Amino acid sequence: MEKKTIRDVDVKGKKVLVRCDFNVPIKDGQIADDTRIQAALPTIKYLVENGAKVVICSHLGRPKGEVNEKYSLKPVATKLSEELGLNVKLAEDVTGNSAHEMADSLKEGEAGLLENVRFDPREEKNDDTLSLELSELIGEDGIYVNDAFGTAHRAHSSTEGVTHHVETSVAGFLMEKEIAQLGAVLESPEQPFVAILGGAKVSDKIGVIENLLEKVERIEIGGAMANTFLKAEGYDIGSSVYEPDKVETAKALMKKANNKGVEIVLPVDAKVAKLPEGEELDSEKVETAENKKVKLYTEQEVEEGKGESLEGWQILDVGEKTLEHFASGLEGAKTVVWNGPLGYTEAPTFAHGTESIARYIAAGNAKCVIGGGDSVAAIQKIKKNAKENGEDTKQFSNIYLSTGGGASLEFLEGKELPGIVALNNAERMPNKSNTSTSKNIQQEK
Ligand code: 3PG
Repeated sequence: MEKKTIRDVDVKGKKVLVRCDFNVPIKDGQIADDTRIQAALPTIKYLVENGAKVVICSHLGRPKGEVNEKYSLKPVATKLSEELGLNVKLAEDVTGNSAHEMADSLKEGEAGLLENVRFDPREEKNDDTLSLELSELIGEDGIYVNDAFGTAHRAHSSTEGVTHHVETSVAGFLMEKEIAQLGAVLESPEQPFVAILGGAKVSDKIGVIENLLEKVERIEIGGAMANTFLKAEGYDIGSSVYEPDKVETAKALMKKANNKGVEIVLPVDAKVAKLPEGEELDSEKVETAENKKVKLYTEQEVEEGKGESLEGWQILDVGEKTLEHFASGLEGAKTVVWNGPLGYTEAPTFAHGTESIARYIAAGNAKCVIGGGDSVAAIQKIKKNAKENGEDTKQFSNIYLSTGGGASLEFLEGKELPGIVALNNAERMPNKSNTSTSKNIQQEK
């Protein structure tokens, strides 16, 4: 059966509950990065323009089921009002009197926002009583739209549970786009297919590597996670951050890759900094620290005096030779998946590797999908700088930036995301009294 989309349902005059992911960074009460809001606007605008009464729902941060002003969606309501040119009313609660008053006061083409759904302790427990209450906000003929790809890996009341209480549950435009973009690279990637992985931890990426080993020709590894692989290969990484308990995992993954004929490319040189050991790092400390470019040597080479020791130094970016290797592996690539920055990109001095590779991909013909909060933020920064320097940002148009952090990782691991599964199953479960949980859904499949 064709999956129903938002375009297939008549929303005019109906109350529509739209789950968005407005988990945006807030600094001094202001939205520091509105990417996720901009990404959700097409769905909200479509609903408004087509005469729906739009009840928007989102979480922000992790308030642990308690009302906390710090995590209020007030700045989001203000931003939405500006962007939509409408007064987007903010309810004071999630499903209480204020939420009902707001939802009932909406006229066709108007929108309101519920307060942070995680202020309710039932949300993260996927408590069916909250799912039912959310559905009651939109009434008998209400429609549920899930546009929160970034939260699709969570089986919560507003992402999963609620679908069992409404007749019609569909994906919003952003959700559709994310599934299409990430799905295409996993299901039918044009070869050669190369993966670039970075970021802090191997432990976050084991599932992704396992899944990608079945599909890619080559995996290029940078960021702090490369340090664990380098350690596994016997390299001297000085005082660099790595995961001692994942060294064996790294060895096993490299062996597996070798058996499958997948090339794992590790850094051969780096930009290192001298930083106070054991202290928490911030961009200022990192930016002002003494730094240098080095070739990497094995511990044995260092012992034999054939190479310089990195004692007291931390690897914070990949070096030029590594970039040459990464670029030559990307030459002619048709598909690229990238998750995690290649260096400590919060400090401009160590953002060079990530920027070079982003520009290399932008100059080529590969379709590239980037997921993960830090890597997306790094690419956004590159695009912003390019714009400020008068460059045409269309050069980056072959690079798709996913709004999903954990969700995009789980998607790349090949896992089924509960928020998406619920939409797919919703059509087969129109029974409003059905109170299945995601566990029931798994069993029904
Ligand atoms: C995210 O930012 O990855 C999503 O909004 C999910 O947030 P969470 O990790 O707090 O569930």
